[in-house]
Amino acid sequence: MSMAGPKHTQINPATGEVIGTVEFGSGDDYERAVKAMLAAKEKWALTPAPVRGEVVRQIGQRIREKQHALGALVSAEMGKILPEGIGEVQEAVDICDFAVGLSRTLNGSVIPSERPGHFMMERWNPLQGCVGIISAFNFPCAVYFWNVALSLVCGNVNLWKPAETTSLVAIAFVKLVQDVLKESGHDPAVATLVCGHGKEIGEALIQDPRMELVSFTGSTAVGRHVNQVVAGRFGRALLELGGNNAMIIDRDADLDLAVRAALFGAVGTAGQRCTSLRRLFLHADVYEEVLGRLKQAYASVKIGDPLDSQTLCGPLHRPEGVKLFTTTVAKALEEGGKVLVGGQPWHGVEKGGMLSHGNFVQPTVVEVPATAKVLEEEAFVPVMYVVKIKDLQEGVKMNNSVRQGLSSALFTSSPTSVFEWTGPTGSDCGIVNVNIGTSGAEIGGAFGGNKETGWGRESGSDAWKQYMRRSTCTINHSKELPLAQGINFGGGNENGGEGKIMD
Ligand code: UN1
Repeated sequence: MSMAGPKHTQINPATGEVIGTVEFGSGDDYERAVKAMLAAKEKWALTPAPVRGEVVRQIGQRIREKQHALGALVSAEMGKILPEGIGEVQEAVDICDFAVGLSRTLNGSVIPSERPGHFMMERWNPLQGCVGIISAFNFPCAVYFWNVALSLVCGNVNLWKPAETTSLVAIAFVKLVQDVLKESGHDPAVATLVCGHGKEIGEALIQDPRMELVSFTGSTAVGRHVNQVVAGRFGRALLELGGNNAMIIDRDADLDLAVRAALFGAVGTAGQRCTSLRRLFLHADVYEEVLGRLKQAYASVKIGDPLDSQTLCGPLHRPEGVKLFTTTVAKALEEGGKVLVGGQPWHGVEKGGMLSHGNFVQPTVVEVPATAKVLEEEAFVPVMYVVKIKDLQEGVKMNNSVRQGLSSALFTSSPTSVFEWTGPTGSDCGIVNVNIGTSGAEIGGAFGGNKETGWGRESGSDAWKQYMRRSTCTINHSKELPLAQGINFGGGNENGGEGKIMD
């Protein structure tokens, strides 16, 4: 539908070119969208879950058919390289497949009752209100689908507020979702989109008591505000905030695997994943060897057009990213850091100068002292800090020493270390990997992190429970009214009071 808010131009981060103009929604548009969702709500909630699953199956299928074109759109608007754009679309397909199965396994449990003639069960019902999804620029479609695919099979109506700068991707995907809804006889308002500014549409959404669940992906600073506002009205917030992810390479690691994983973790998506590798802790025995191999690996990284098949590092999403990169490197140097690789913005001369307006930087490795304050902050740029450690225990301590707690990885060949690392005194993150990197999680596991990362879990495992209302039901099918804990309320026996008020 046409919107009444301001117009917003969408920019290709590799060239600075305008690739589209989007009409943003106004406060009135938001209101109209929520009213349409509420009108569609009951019918959708009463549609059997496997029938809702069939709709999600068709959505997944539609995405699959257009995977390459959608992946190219993700690349063009977000800036990630094409294989990663296509991979992100695959992640959307995968979670749809997962949700289809889930639509037949939203199982509650039957619980033995302590009372004769009583039956206890849990039923999972759709939420009473709506689900609001606020997503970030770096995964402009996959994170939406982590939420909406599950939420749809759970029977909810959903409003999406994407990042301003990836509105074209959002429009393309929602059109496809709504086409399937319409063709299968359902109200398209079940999956609604309002593009717009965070300060206006995002703010309206988080304050709105009709938004029972708000799923927010973004910075810790904004997430703190979202959390406070939503908690203040007793809504439910599902938060995926900043990560500050570390990898430990122990003395007994397979260095070939470790170096490849570090490269993908730190350079992939130009360091703009929540799961990107930022801190690399190297055992003293392998320190020089790993740095040598890393320098070699970084030297082979081609920076440039994300649509070019040779490119491994595309542009940063916004020009502000280049400034952040420069200040981040400068801070590391002030704290005694030494640039081992990169360290500068990058100005491409290829493609007849087209890339000279892109937001490119060199993937960078900086050696820093263990006490450097830069290690505590997440900067969404391809800068990896390296620190020497004396043993695994020191590495675990460093891993856990920051306020964020999303993803972590250990490279080792020792089973003892594996179980230490994944156990009570190991990594304090939500994602605790061994011999694979920090980024690139599969959809089947619960995705999310602890501490300032916000404690949210999305995607696989039992994350679906957050999109439903649990009803604990005790059903008396006897002619008696026994009380739990054997209480005799007025029954006159040894536990009871005076007057008998029940048979
Ligand atoms: C994010 O960066 O917000 O694990 C999500 C990964 C991807 C998802 C990242 N599957 O790197």
